[in-house]
Amino acid sequence: MPRPGATQNASSGDDPSPGIPRHVGIIMDGNGRWATARGLPRMEGHRRGMDAVRGVIRAASDFGVSHLTLYSFSSENWSRPTEEVEFLFGLLRIFIQSELADLHANRVRIRVIGSEQGVPEDILETLAEAEKLTAANSGLGLQVAFNYGGRDEIARAVRRLAADVAEGTMSAETIGAEAIAARLDTAGIPDPDLIIRTGGEVRLSNFLLWQAAYAELLFVPTYWPEFDKEALAAAIDEFARRTRRYGGLATARA
Ligand code: FPP
Repeated sequence: MPRPGATQNASSGDDPSPGIPRHVGIIMDGNGRWATARGLPRMEGHRRGMDAVRGVIRAASDFGVSHLTLYSFSSENWSRPTEEVEFLFGLLRIFIQSELADLHANRVRIRVIGSEQGVPEDILETLAEAEKLTAANSGLGLQVAFNYGGRDEIARAVRRLAADVAEGTMSAETIGAEAIAARLDTAGIPDPDLIIRTGGEVRLSNFLLWQAAYAELLFVPTYWPEFDKEALAAAIDEFARRTRRYGGLATARA
């Protein structure tokens, strides 16, 4: 019997270097507190957060990480004041406009995960163009979790399954974990090996709920705008020290 996640991992075909997580997910938290602590408006924290995003994408690529998933707007973030929501949307527009050519030149492959519901049309178009332009790239897989919530993703996958059963292309008896994973937004992407949350809170906040089953979790106090290449290196070092058992027994290390 394959270990959990093995089927998805095997499909990616990109073996990581020893000690390097193949897939890193990041909950980028603490922009607002970073700004408030400096007497700056929260928006300045988000702006500096965008700079940190640039650096961490580059660093992940340099370290040989194959996939990086960034939680950039959660399905719960709609409850923030309208100006803040619009500001975050504006930053995403700016980010794609200013970075896309560079990301493409660096062979980054962009994929958006999350629901399209309620997202302004121009953002959907911008994101779709970024995905299309970079689809054949063979470098870092960058998943932008935008209007994303883990429960919503699972519910949408289950709806697709129910439709397949209703159409007769799938039988209810054969539904297993693989059938669900294949209908998630992350289908074909290996499960995250390491999930980092910055900003000191210790929770997943609806991020990659299904995929996080065997991820190593790392919670760091650093506010996101200060999370840099060195901080990512330290997180990867911590990952390399963990022993992963996938519900089995520890095997002796070489
Ligand atoms: C959490 O900080 C961060 C967010 C809700 C959004 C993340 C956005 C960015 C990093 C900037 C833009 C990103 C891209 C991809 C262009 P918070 O506001 O919850 O901070 P707080 O907990 O200190 O209030």
